[in-house]
Amino acid sequence: MRILVTGGTGFIGSHTAVALIENGHDVFIVDNLNNSRAEVVQSINKITGKAVIFSTIDCCDFTALDAFFMQHKLDAVIHFAALKAVGESVQKPLAYYKNNLLSLLNILELCQKHQVNNVVFSSSCTVYGEPDYLPIDEQARVKQPESPYGNTKKIAEEILRDTTAATQIKAISLRYFNPVGAHASALIGEYPMGRPNNLMPVITQTAIGKLNQLQVFGTDYETVDGSNVRDYIHVVDLAQAHVVAIERMLQGKSKAAYEVFNLGTGNGISVLEMIHAFEKYTGQKLNYILTHRRPGDVVQVWANTNYANDELGWKATRTLEDMVTDAWRWELALKQNSN
Ligand code: UD1
Repeated sequence: MRILVTGGTGFIGSHTAVALIENGHDVFIVDNLNNSRAEVVQSINKITGKAVIFSTIDCCDFTALDAFFMQHKLDAVIHFAALKAVGESVQKPLAYYKNNLLSLLNILELCQKHQVNNVVFSSSCTVYGEPDYLPIDEQARVKQPESPYGNTKKIAEEILRDTTAATQIKAISLRYFNPVGAHASALIGEYPMGRPNNLMPVITQTAIGKLNQLQVFGTDYETVDGSNVRDYIHVVDLAQAHVVAIERMLQGKSKAAYEVFNLGTGNGISVLEMIHAFEKYTGQKLNYILTHRRPGDVVQVWANTNYANDELGWKATRTLEDMVTDAWRWELALKQNSN
């Protein structure tokens, strides 16, 4: 099938492009390169031995996107393109609402116009806020998010629900927990522009010496060891779930016009456990300090994955060791390439 991957040079998008190609699909990427590099396209081609079609297009540019839809007869869209820094979204709410919502509206309008009736959307466990129970399942109440970023995900899900109710378009929202790791080839991975905010790139950049210290934000939470707990999932497992979701729609197996699935492992890992796992599996010593809580962090969240496992027939298989060693191999490859 012919699948448009918006944001396809980003972290999750690039791994999903590889997984789609490996499963026999033709991949078309549009990306505005706001937070990624065009060289990623060469890396995707190198891993897969296939050439993806790539165009530097901002999904907020309706005219350019329309021309792209016109030129390439598409069967489905996986929409990753979005701004994703929680803290920045608090400073720049309008930029986040405009970018994340306008791009989705454009995609949906063009899907309708060009009769591309299958859409997979990148959502987030952030829509659950501080969970009322754990592990959290898809039936849980969606809460008012802490940040404009989170709110764009919540509103986007509502837009998708309403649009699928009124049009031929079918959609699946995938609620990611915490994606980490990198492709085993170390040719693609997470490439934060500027100082990273997310835990794993902070860990690997501290280990390699790009950052001099890792701060553990909060050690007095009511958790296993006082630090926050998250459900970290290997990005290649996550990518595979997108292939399953898109094929479910293309094969007419969806149970409803709009569906939602959690993508996690079901395992809660604390920040300190992650640090210790990194040290153990890579042999690197991390320079870290225990410090104050980071505003806006939920205490703990991990997924109930039963619905995704049973209904999609998909399960994350990569271990914590895979996550940290692949992320580390990627950081080492970045260093080698910069020398
Ligand atoms: C959050 C959102 C997620 C969103 C992501 C985008 C939730 C539950 N998750 O992830 O949906 O897609 O932002 O960026 O709302 N940490 C440190 N030191 C650091 C960096 C992080 O201790 O230098 C800790 C954080 O306090 C947190 C954990 O590591 O407890 C994970 O943080 P991070 O990787 O930023 O992801 P989330 O905030 O969980």
